[in-house]
Amino acid sequence: MARRKIVAGNWKMNMTPSEAVKLCGELKDLVKSDDVDVVYCVPAIDIVPVVEAVKGTNVEVGAENMYFEEKGAYTGEISAAMIKDAGAKYVIIGHSERRDYFKEDDALLNKKVKKAFEAGLTPILCCGETLEQREMGITLDWIRMQIKSDLVGISADQVASMVIAYEPIWAIGTGKTATTEQAQEVCKAVRDCVAEIYDAATADAVRIQYGGSVNAGNAAELFAQPDIDGGLVGGASLKADFGKIVNY
Ligand code: G3P
Repeated sequence: MARRKIVAGNWKMNMTPSEAVKLCGELKDLVKSDDVDVVYCVPAIDIVPVVEAVKGTNVEVGAENMYFEEKGAYTGEISAAMIKDAGAKYVIIGHSERRDYFKEDDALLNKKVKKAFEAGLTPILCCGETLEQREMGITLDWIRMQIKSDLVGISADQVASMVIAYEPIWAIGTGKTATTEQAQEVCKAVRDCVAEIYDAATADAVRIQYGGSVNAGNAAELFAQPDIDGGLVGGASLKADFGKIVNY
């Protein structure tokens, strides 16, 4: 099955609401594409103005995080229903910065994935190994453990509709990209793992992104790999280069 590529920007903690609207204007013509799904995953406070700013374009909006509870006394958190109602369609779950700085574990992330689907959002579930794990030779074991734990109780149909992003932690924001072989090897392992838990059709349908220092110069080679269906882009999503990545 030919999977449609998906290129998402992860703005992280950048862009005030007014800066966000300005950036949407600057990128508008550059990110036009008939062949690639384009998503801006933005800080919670930017969701409403960005949804408004990209209206009528090919760009969809996503959140960078959410909480798994429906509503209530969870000061500072936002729910999946809030994200959905604000007009976003995607939500990043389990980015390594959330796992590391905010101590989010796989049991919590599994609850978030479930709640995202319940609210009608498409999760972009992140996985990735540290440099230490890579050097110890346990990358594939670690990734498989993350995928299996995060997808407990998620149906084959749901998995077929979601996005999984492989982001080696040592390649994030470091300018150090995984080689195409390394990226392809792990993205294939993610797909094989999905086939093992579900079936070949589900594995064939799920879209798997690579993330970690993707830029205008390396996107084409990475996205040409058989198991890489696009990218989750940090730093380069905040500048005109993002248009080049989308139209790699
Ligand atoms: O989620 C995207 C990310 O973590 C990669 O960041 O700046 O290396 O593209 P960057």
